[in-house]
Amino acid sequence: MTIRHHRGRYEIRRFDLDELQQQLASEPWVITDENVAAAYRGAKTELVLKPGEETKSFPSYQHLVEQLASLSVRRSHRLVAFGGGVIGDLVGFAAATYLRGIPFVQVPTTLLAMVDSSVGGKVGVDLPLGKNLVGAFHPPSEVWLCHELLATLPDRQVRNGMAEVWKYAYIMDADLADQLDAAIPTQASMLSETLVDRCIAHKRDVVQADEFETNGLRAILNFGHTIGHAIEQVLGYQELLHGEAIAIGMVFEARLGELLGFTEAGTAAIIEDQLLRQGLPTDWEGFQNPEPLLQAMFRDKKVVGNALAFSLVPKIGACKLVTDVPVAAVREVISR
Ligand code: NAD
Ligand code: GLY
Repeated sequence: MTIRHHRGRYEIRRFDLDELQQQLASEPWVITDENVAAAYRGAKTELVLKPGEETKSFPSYQHLVEQLASLSVRRSHRLVAFGGGVIGDLVGFAAATYLRGIPFVQVPTTLLAMVDSSVGGKVGVDLPLGKNLVGAFHPPSEVWLCHELLATLPDRQVRNGMAEVWKYAYIMDADLADQLDAAIPTQASMLSETLVDRCIAHKRDVVQADEFETNGLRAILNFGHTIGHAIEQVLGYQELLHGEAIAIGMVFEARLGELLGFTEAGTAAIIEDQLLRQGLPTDWEGFQNPEPLLQAMFRDKKVVGNALAFSLVPKIGACKLVTDVPVAAVREVISR
């Protein structure tokens, strides 16, 4: 599959595990985290970082670029981000900025990174004050997909990735929602290359139509994210995984849509039921205190004037950016 962007295009190439290990062995600047390094000891890795969202931070970014400088990495070199979305976003941001930009390859090792974060060129780090507040658009020069990597992924991380898969279903693929609904009892069968390709094709279509998130099209990928990112920030990027926070966000943003008369009545209940059966959280005790969440939402990138912008689903399979959501409606939904 080919993804077009403002500076050209990149390919998504499939490898089996042996081929991938050989390919990695020929790359001098492979960067990963400790869990991936432990699971794939055969794979050559140059820099091994701590696992977890805390690594997608400014201090680790600084540490990483200082290491690149001390290792004399040059503009003609390319970095290889071998890991989940944390490694992809962090290494991508280092590649976007180190020496004013060098190439990098995304090698996604989680379901979430395969279906979402490795494609589209968004890279960056979190700040204590907000998720992804510092970043860039820096497309990878290639994405290397190896489905076999999912074999070592813990179940919780698989469910975490499924949250983004459900997101595609809710925002643009009602048929996928029906298929996923029917497949929940036999979870394993869902993790097919076909499913991953279908999600990547959705992401390709969206990012090619609105690479820099300026015309409202790419914003639909943020369904569940305005509330989800706020939860992650309030929790200090601990306890809940990104997909888990997004799952809660999708339920509450569907409720918000219903409250505003934008979303078909009953949609939130369907989403809640499906995500619960998928093993994802759909509620959060922190909603009892909505003010820190509202503050986090105002610091997010989705504020337009004094109102908040939300990507809302009119019904399952469709989504639209709504830029004038009153704060009172958000407060009402999350404090109910
Ligand atoms: P992650 O990178 O933290 O990986 C999840 C966990 O799984 C980590 O502990 C990791 O060490 C482990 N792991 C990874 N691959 C493994 C494997 N094959 N076998 C065993 N363990 C493995 O998290 P994630 O869910 O991949 O990514 C979440 C991040 O992605 C968030 O920061 C989110 O904001 C970001 N994101 C970015 C975009 C984008 O467009 N750039 C899109 C969606 C999400
Ligand atoms: N994951 C949101 C985006 O790529 O725009």
